[in-house]
Amino acid sequence: MAHVDQAVENQDVDANEIRLYSYYRDAELRGSNLIYRLLRVLDDPESQTNLSQHLSDETRHAWLWTELIGELGGSPIKVDDGYQVRIGKRAGLPRHPVDLLALTVVVEQRALRRYIEHLKRPDVRERTLEVLRDVSKDEGWHIDWIRRKGREIAEREGTPERFDEALERFRAIDREVMEELESMEREAGLV
Ligand SMILES: [Fe+2]
Ligand SMILES: [Fe+2]
Repeated sequence: MAHVDQAVENQDVDANEIRLYSYYRDAELRGSNLIYRLLRVLDDPESQTNLSQHLSDETRHAWLWTELIGELGGSPIKVDDGYQVRIGKRAGLPRHPVDLLALTVVVEQRALRRYIEHLKRPDVRERTLEVLRDVSKDEGWHIDWIRRKGREIAEREGTPERFDEALERFRAIDREVMEELESMEREAGLV
């Protein structure tokens, strides 16, 4: 009987992990969508080059989570109430490039913070640690160049404060969304 209980318990753990990694995967895929949008609005050669690399990184991150879900014997779960959907409902999709860049910084910083926090948890399986380290290592340059570009455009347009104001606005929304998500994850036993 003990081994049956054990099996059921392991199954539960894997189902929760698959759900959590599906949330991470979804955030990466929807983050890619923001980068796609930036590709259409930022025409300068530096942005076009960086955005191509950036998009390639984000889709690779989504694949790394997908691959890990597969290794655990699962399939990605469709997520329609994740971080990005909730942010989108509150913030809409900004049209101005400076606002779009500010939103991208906020969601990238959140992704990085979530991964770093997960890395510090006890008893994280080795493969998960590997993926967490791999995806985190790209986020530093993503945040740096997007922030620099946002400030540069805001200054060039004669509204230097616009970028930081947008950052503040989106950070407030991000905090609300995270409070909701964390209580949802706690209730579902994901963390
Ligand atoms: Fe990413
Ligand atoms: Fe990123």
